Amino acid sequence: MVNKKKVAVKKNVQSRKKSHKKTKIIKKSIRSKIIQRKISKGGNVKRVPTGIKNLDKIVEGGFEKNSTNLIVGGSGNGKSIFAIQFLMEGLKQGESVLYVAFEEKKKDFYANMSELGWDLEKYEKSGKFFFLSYTSEKIKTMLDEGGGDIEMIVLSKKVQRVVMDSITTFVMLFERDVEMRGRALSLFSLLKSWACTSLLVYERDPLIDRKQSSRILEFEADSLIFLYFTRLKKERERFLEVYKMRGTRHSKNIFQYIIRKNVGIEVSSKPYSGKLDRFKST
Ligand SMILES: Nc1ncnc2c1ncn2[C@@H]1O[C@H](COP(=O)(O)OP(=O)(O)O)[C@@H](O)[C@H]1O
Ligand SMILES: [Mg+2]
Repeated sequence: MVNKKKVAVKKNVQSRKKSHKKTKIIKKSIRSKIIQRKISKGGNVKRVPTGIKNLDKIVEGGFEKNSTNLIVGGSGNGKSIFAIQFLMEGLKQGESVLYVAFEEKKKDFYANMSELGWDLEKYEKSGKFFFLSYTSEKIKTMLDEGGGDIEMIVLSKKVQRVVMDSITTFVMLFERDVEMRGRALSLFSLLKSWACTSLLVYERDPLIDRKQSSRILEFEADSLIFLYFTRLKKERERFLEVYKMRGTRHSKNIFQYIIRKNVGIEVSSKPYSGKLDRFKST
């Protein structure tokens, strides 16, 4: 009798375990369907991988295709490295890419990048990487002419990624806000008309420099990424924040990153869990 009871209890436990397992499987399948739907819902937005390790994971796969993106950070924070990585990713995908440098000479820039492992001369010879050294005065002419030689390269070489590094001095050319606003808007609409994904670099330390000269750019850009370089204990550490990215459920966290030879910027796969009160940007 006792034995019979024991068997019955055991059977009952086993069947409860089975049904619990079944519920778990059903729940898992519903969850994966929801995720699938979410992915396919956002499927009409084409993404452009950024080339920055671990960044795409927090921005739904990359920049939106044909968007205008802005990266803001202080001097030495890795903005140009970020920009080159973005173009190198384009080359990997078989695209043609263009780097417009406003403040650096080609020779110095190539030398710096070769220290990090990128032979830009070699890429230039391959006919897919284009480099233009421009003065910020010249960008004014470009806008007056409605495109100039930059547009000629973009259209004739079917350029898909454009970098402008940096547009800080261009913005500073204008004393009056209204004029700056007008020029910035023309630049954005010109970039949009080229149907390529662009990355604009702006030099401003988001933690110190609260001058709002970049406000209009930050407002107009489709995405805004901040790079921070701040002292935590003995040493300064690097951090990245995706402040905005239109049409994207991006992470609201701050991520630490490092700069490595032959890799460039590598973002941490986990959000920073330390004190955040120092990151008061804008
Ligand atoms: N081989 C390297 N390994 C690690 N960090 C490097 C290396 N080369 C340069 N860096 C870092 O990259 C910084 C320069 O990055 P860069 O993209 O030119 O800055 P920005 O354009 O923001 O002024 C340097 O200040 C240095 O800290
Ligand atoms: Mg730079």
